[in-house]
Amino acid sequence: MSMHIDLSGTRVLVTGASRGIGKAIAEGLLEAGASVCLHYNRTADAALGIKDRYPTQCIAVKADLSRADETKRLFADAVAGLDGLDVLVNNAGIAAEMPLSLSTDQWEHAWDLTMAINLKAPALLSRLAAQHFISHNADRDGGRIISVSSRAAFRGDTADFMAYAASKGGLVSFTRSIARSLGPQGVKAFLLAPGFIRTDMAEDAIRLYGESFVMQGIALPRLTEPDDIAPLAVLLASGLADHATGCTIDINAASYVH
Ligand SMILES: NC(=O)c1ccc[n+]([C@@H]2O[C@H](COP(=O)([O-])OP(=O)(O)OC[C@H]3O[C@@H](n4cnc5c(N)ncnc54)[C@H](OP(=O)(O)O)[C@@H]3O)[C@@H](O)[C@H]2O)c1
Repeated sequence: MSMHIDLSGTRVLVTGASRGIGKAIAEGLLEAGASVCLHYNRTADAALGIKDRYPTQCIAVKADLSRADETKRLFADAVAGLDGLDVLVNNAGIAAEMPLSLSTDQWEHAWDLTMAINLKAPALLSRLAAQHFISHNADRDGGRIISVSSRAAFRGDTADFMAYAASKGGLVSFTRSIARSLGPQGVKAFLLAPGFIRTDMAEDAIRLYGESFVMQGIALPRLTEPDDIAPLAVLLASGLADHATGCTIDINAASYVH
C-alpha cells in the first residue's frame, strides 16, 4: 500500500469551489493532481483565479443551485468538460438566518431556499453521479461522493438556524442510504461534519453572536480553518479510505463528541 496520494486522472466536481471550505478542497485536489470542475455562483473572480493557476486541470462552471434546472445543467457540463466523473464533492451551502420572529411567509421562504440549496441540489447531483458511476465507471472502481454536512445535523442549532440543521441532517441520512444501497455497485459515499470553520459563513455567526460563541467548547486554541478540512476530502477522494463508506468524519476540534 502506498500512502502517496496522486489524483492525476481523477475527475472531480466540487460545488461551491469559489470560497471557504470548497475552495480549500478544490485547491487540495488540484495540488494532488486531480482534474476539477470548479462550480461557483456569484463569486466568479475567485473561481476563475484558481482556474488561471491550474489552467490544464480545471474547468469552471456557474450555476445557481437553488434552481433544479441549473443544478442538472451543472452536472452535464461537468461530465462533458472533464470527459467523465469519478468524485462529486457536495460542498455549496447557505446558512440563512431565520429568527422565529419572521413572518410565516418569510420563514417559509427561508426554509424552502435552505432546503433547495443544502439538500435538494446535493440529492439531485448525487443521484446523477451515482447513475453515472454505475453505468460508466465499471472499469474505474465506480465513484465517490463526499458531502459536507455539519455538526448542527447532530447537535442541533440555534433557533435562527433550525432549517440549516434540518437540511444537514437530511443530507446525512440521504448520503448513508447511498452508501448502504449502492455500495455493491461501486458507489462510495462519505460525510464531513465540520464545526465552526473560519469562512464567510462563520463570520456571519460571529457578527450575530460574537467571537466567544463560535470558540465555545473548542478544545484547540484556534478556530478551525478551511485548510484543516481539505486533507480529509483529498484522502476520501483517493480511494484509500473506501471501507469507511457511509461514515461521517467530525471536524469540530472536539467541541461536539458524540
Ligand atoms: N463555515 C462553517 O462554520 C461551516 C460549518 C459546518 C458546515 N459548513 C458547511 O460547509 C460548506 C461550505 O461552507 P463555507 O463556510 O465554506 O461557506 P461560504 O464561505 O459561505 O461559501 C459558500 C459557497 O457555497 C456557494 N453557494 C452559496 N449559495 C449558492 C447557490 N445558490 N448556488 C450555488 N452555489 C452557492 C457559494 O458560491 P458563490 O460565492 O460563488 O455564490 C460559495 O462557494 C457548506 O455546506 C456549509 O454548510 C460550514
